[in-house]
Order: sequence, then C-alpha cells, then structure tokens
Amino acid sequence: MRTNDFFISYNKNDYIIVEEIVNKMEFYGAKCWFQRRNSKQAFAHAIAQGIESAGAFVVFVSSHSIRSIFVQNEIKSAIDHLEEDSTYKVLPIILGDVDEQSQEFRALSIFLGTFNMLYAQEFQSTEELVLKIFDQVDMKIINENNQKSIYTGDSDIEKQRLKIQTALLNKYAQDYIIDILDGKQNPTILDIGCSDGDCIMSRVEGIEYGYLLGVDINSDKIKDANDKYGNEKNTFWKADITKDEFFAEARDYLKDRDLSGFDLIHISAVLLHLDNVERIMGRIHDLLKRGGHVFIQEEDDGLNLAYPHFSYFEKCACIYEHSLESGDRKMGRKVPMYLKNAGFSNIVVKNSTITSEDFGGSIKEELWDLYYNPNYWDATSASYFDDIIAVEMLPTVIAEHDEIKEEYMKGNIFITLGILFFDAEE
Ligand SMILES: C[S@@+](CC[C@H](N)C(=O)[O-])C[C@H]1O[C@@H](n2cnc3c(N)ncnc32)[C@H](O)[C@@H]1O
Repeated sequence: MRTNDFFISYNKNDYIIVEEIVNKMEFYGAKCWFQRRNSKQAFAHAIAQGIESAGAFVVFVSSHSIRSIFVQNEIKSAIDHLEEDSTYKVLPIILGDVDEQSQEFRALSIFLGTFNMLYAQEFQSTEELVLKIFDQVDMKIINENNQKSIYTGDSDIEKQRLKIQTALLNKYAQDYIIDILDGKQNPTILDIGCSDGDCIMSRVEGIEYGYLLGVDINSDKIKDANDKYGNEKNTFWKADITKDEFFAEARDYLKDRDLSGFDLIHISAVLLHLDNVERIMGRIHDLLKRGGHVFIQEEDDGLNLAYPHFSYFEKCACIYEHSLESGDRKMGRKVPMYLKNAGFSNIVVKNSTITSEDFGGSIKEELWDLYYNPNYWDATSASYFDDIIAVEMLPTVIAEHDEIKEEYMKGNIFITLGILFFDAEE
C-alpha cells in the first residue's frame, strides 16, 4: 500500500539543504518518508518498507552521498522495486558539489543514468525546485497557504489535552504576563491563535486591561470564544495570521479605538504550526505600540529529558516528529533569532523547561499527560504520520504506557519538557 508520495534518500552531511527541500515539499502537501535521525542501521527493514510505501524515490546525489553505502543500497532497492512496479518513479537530484568525472559518480550513473536528473543549482529557489519535482511525478500542490501542519484541535481528545495544557502552563505564564504588564495603564492585548479563548482569558485573569482581541483560523473555536467571553472589551475574530488582510484589519481595529498599537501580543503554541515564521514576526512587530511586548510560548523537543526508561520517551519523540499535526518540534530554539531578525529587543527566555519536580512535584500527572499519554493522541491511522517508523512504534508505546506512567507517578522517573516562554520588546 502506498502511504507516502516520496521516499527521500540522502546522506546526513547534506541534511540541512535536504531538510529545507523536504520541508517545502511537505508544505505543499507531499507526504515524505524522510528519516530525520541518523539511525539507519537500526531501521534497515523499515527503510525497505519505506521505499515500497512511496510513489517515487528521490535521491540527493552529492559528493557525500555517492560514497554512502546506505544511499547506494537504497538506490538498488528502488530500482528493484521499479522492476515490480513500472509506475514507480526514480528522481535523482544533483546537489552542487558533485564531481561527475569521479569513479563513484560514474558507478552510480550505471543505475541512475537512465532517469531525468535535476540539477539543484539550476533553480532560482527551493520552491522552484520543489514545483519541478512535483511536475515530474504529476503531483498537484495541495497547500498554498502558510500552514506547516494539519493541526485543527477539533477532536474531543485534543480539546481535553489542551485543557490540561492551559491549566498547567498557566501556573508559569500568568506570573510572566503580570510582570510584563506591570505599570501599563489599561493595556490592549492581541492573542494570536486564541482557539476557544480559554488560554488567554485564564492568563489575564485579575489583570485590568482595556481591550482584548483574539484571532484564530478556526471559525468554530472563534464562535466558542465569543459565546464564552465576547463583550464590549473582548472581541474574537476568525483570521489567518499568515495573510496580509489580517494585518490591515488589525490596524483598523487599533484605529477605531484610537490606539497606536497593542501593548501585548500573546502567541501560545502557534508558531510551530506555521511556515514563514520570520516574516510573520516582522509583521507582528509592526502591530506593537512603542515599548509593547510580545509573549511567546513555544515547544522544543530537544529539551525533553527523561531518566530512566529513555527508550519509551525516544519512541514518543519519534512519533511526534512524524505526526502531521505536531508541527515543527524544534521551533523553540529558532524563536530568539526570528525575534531578533524581526527587530525585537530585550529578548528574554523566562523559562525553558518544565519538570516533573516543579511546584514540589504537585503537577506530576498533568505534566505526564501533556506529552506522554497516548490516550490523548489522535493517532488512529497511518495517514496521521509521514513515516512508517512512527506507525510501527505506536502499538509498543500504547502497550508500555500504563506501567511506565505508574513508575513515574511513584516518583521513579524524572522528566523535563521543552516548553519555552519568551518575552521581547518592540
Ligand atoms: C495548539 S493550539 C494553541 C491554542 C492556544 N493558544 C493555547 O495555547 O492553548 C494552536 C492554535 O493556532 C491556531 N492557528 C493555526 N494556524 C493559524 C493561523 N494561520 N492563523 C490563526 N490561527 C492559527 C489553531 O487553529 C489553534 O487554535
């Protein structure tokens, strides 16, 4: 059964350039079998399945990959598969630095010479290259907006998980926000990706503010937010913050209230779902009043730690990494540079991890359920993932969960979650 559009074959030395291309392919709707980790030997069987699970095999040919036994084996497997399935496509993409006269390149050409090769450096942009790749396999672009993931937050399970997240993270965020707004008279607040409003409303509880505008792309959530919290001070709009129209409407909102900008722009667990974040941060910067602040909550799985039983946690991390709803699980580390490049100053990380021992261990179970309880995952079918590895790991995680959670609840496992809180000034 074909569960992916492309199998991506490459050498880890080309990771940065390949990842950029694959991100763009995924952004335009392609499902890619792309092993982001260097664990090839452990998953050799999965690689063979991955090659067969895709409609096309893309191999990045570089001075590194032509010497890689793994890449050579993958090419051979793809060509074997082509013999069984004549509709299978093989697409070599030459990265700039290959010596075409080298022995290794000539050896590979025996296998790849009959296919139409694309030379990456002949394309003006990654986008142009990706469109050509799609063209070669007759694939249509299915995502023309700036969404990175397919997150909707609509399922009952995700609603429950978000409630846990809101209650738990409020214990951290509320104090930071009180601190940021200290001394500001009737501040005006914008919440980007407000969902049903629960998160921002709990965070500003007890704070005297002037106006609050919440925006979200999901109209059902906006209806809920208006039903629960809408009044003369609080307004909730359906808006896509990746679109220019939103920024024009937000300017009108400020003008109607005789305001020069927002005092606080709050963005919680949203950036990881978007593409072009740097550009968006620049537009957000322009909506702030002089001396206004942006407060961002973001995730980064690189800061997730666990001891002992790390194999359970590694499997969970792999599952998130390949879930189509999880977005960019490394967004946290990128935020300071995005802020800096967008013109923000006084960038402060208020907190970078939350741990099972915070608040004397009193929030243990909530912390666990936030990330590590598969009962709160929507993962019910292979279509939820971009990689067969994640699909294969899911039953093991489900089987191991109750026992490991029990150990954790007894205090025998320590965990940290990479959830970061940033404050920056206009
Ligand atoms: C994980 S939820 C976070 C909700 C809330 N901020 C919180 O922290 O509980 C992400 C929210 O971002 C919204 N969102 C995603 N892309 C968006 C976009 N382009 N414009 C506006 N909202 C967006 C989603 O609809 C969703 O409600």
